[in-house]
Amino acid sequence: MRIIPALLGEHAVIYSLLDMIERKRQEWSPEETRLAVVMLATALESHAVIEEELLFRELEPHLGLGHGPLGVMLADHEQIEAILARLALATPEELGPLVAQLTETTREHFDKEETVLFGLSEKFLAPELLRDLGARWAKRRNVDVRSLAEGS
Ligand SMILES: [Fe+2]
Ligand SMILES: [Fe+2]
Repeated sequence: MRIIPALLGEHAVIYSLLDMIERKRQEWSPEETRLAVVMLATALESHAVIEEELLFRELEPHLGLGHGPLGVMLADHEQIEAILARLALATPEELGPLVAQLTETTREHFDKEETVLFGLSEKFLAPELLRDLGARWAKRRNVDVRSLAEGS
């Protein structure tokens, strides 16, 4: 399978985590909020590493870095990392605003990837490369894709 649908599926799971956190945050204790943030951070960080090491690396010769779409995505990843670092040290009073900042920044970042970067990936990268990246994604995520047809 190609890597882009796999990354979209990861976005879908993370959206459900964001929805849950936004819905429940008001009734949670600071400890419960911290636990939810740790789970979200685990999903976000591994997702960003996979994007950077598999997809972004292949896109760099086509798109460059700087202020282009790839540079913007990397800056977003750094911004999300910085918010997560602040959350790890946040006082109970700081938790709410930082969680709101995290969910908003993540949604905006995912929207840019879905509306711009993933489309550019399908345009610039050959179908065989997208499938090879998908196979590497499956290996890293421990997903068994052997039953899928070769061309999918
Ligand atoms: Fe990303
Ligand atoms: Fe993403």
